[in-house]
Amino acid sequence: MAVINVALAGRSYEVRVGGGLLANLAAECGPLLRKRRVPIVTDANVHRLWSAPVEAALREAGHEPRWLVHAPGEQAKSWQELARTVDWLLAEEVERGDHILALGGGVVGDLTGFAAAVLKRGCGFVQLPTTLLAQVDSSVGGKTAINCASGKNLVGAFHQPALVLADLDALGTLPPRQLRAGYAEVLKYGVLGDASFFAWCEENARGLLAGDRGSREYAVRVSVSEKARIVAEDERETTGARALLNLGHTFGHALEAESGFSDRLLHGEAVALGMVLAARFSARVGLMGEADAGRIARAIDAAGLPSELAALGLQAGGKRLASHMLYDKKMDAGTLPFVLLRGIGEAFLDRKVALDEVAAFLDEELQAH
Ligand code: GLY
Repeated sequence: MAVINVALAGRSYEVRVGGGLLANLAAECGPLLRKRRVPIVTDANVHRLWSAPVEAALREAGHEPRWLVHAPGEQAKSWQELARTVDWLLAEEVERGDHILALGGGVVGDLTGFAAAVLKRGCGFVQLPTTLLAQVDSSVGGKTAINCASGKNLVGAFHQPALVLADLDALGTLPPRQLRAGYAEVLKYGVLGDASFFAWCEENARGLLAGDRGSREYAVRVSVSEKARIVAEDERETTGARALLNLGHTFGHALEAESGFSDRLLHGEAVALGMVLAARFSARVGLMGEADAGRIARAIDAAGLPSELAALGLQAGGKRLASHMLYDKKMDAGTLPFVLLRGIGEAFLDRKVALDEVAAFLDEELQAH
């Protein structure tokens, strides 16, 4: 097992990466579970696959698991489901010093973390991420949120978990499409700041996606270490360091919005294509060579992720796609910071990108074959 520390002074915590963590849940959580009753928030898919070992691990240690099971999917990140979660936690008599377990992917983690942030002005929670995307990104760093009528993740809080247990066994029950989508966030760490990890991904993506345990362990460990380093440097995304984690997300967000945030395009798929677009845009404005942009697109295509905007079959033109970016929560006094590239492993934040130029670029990409 690897243990990575997220160093945040009084709010520091461990991310443990390895096998058998859920099967050994009570021992892994130790004194964080201080009462007999343990509240667990999850979704119906994860409940079906993982409730039995989690129940057994907790009951063996004398605990009584209490479950709140949401319907799977993004719709759980709503005001309504937040209210349901908070009311349920209150009915379960959860106190500030207790820890709520969030068992699932990014949706469950974001919703439960936000409920924990507002319940009694903040109580503890533990992230038990079961998807690759949640293990390498959303469970680490304390971003919690729900969606509202104006857009995704627009209501939320920074609220750090007390512990993250990234159990590699959970990746074994993940649908292949979800695994590939999560892999986009793994590759992102290479593209944004680590050219040698990018090269490792080029070599090992196939094995990782096919189930190679060593590759999965290494990829999650490197990704979490990089995320922990960035979060420790810029917890609240104020200096620009954490903003680099949004590589591919601004283009990707526009594609997700145009697809109605549906299963047509998963978040990780949008980020994958968004990274290709950020790379090609960077090449177009002369920041990096076409060869590097091509290498990024090939790595994404080789993982079975979308790498061509024209192939998505969207009806929108560049102007409409760019207009979705105006609702991005990173808009600041009329400008939208973009993460661009000077090369593989050399991302930076550009605050002066003109949306007209982005729209013209997207028009070209929509025509390309
Ligand atoms: N997913 C981006 C971040 O945590 O900052």
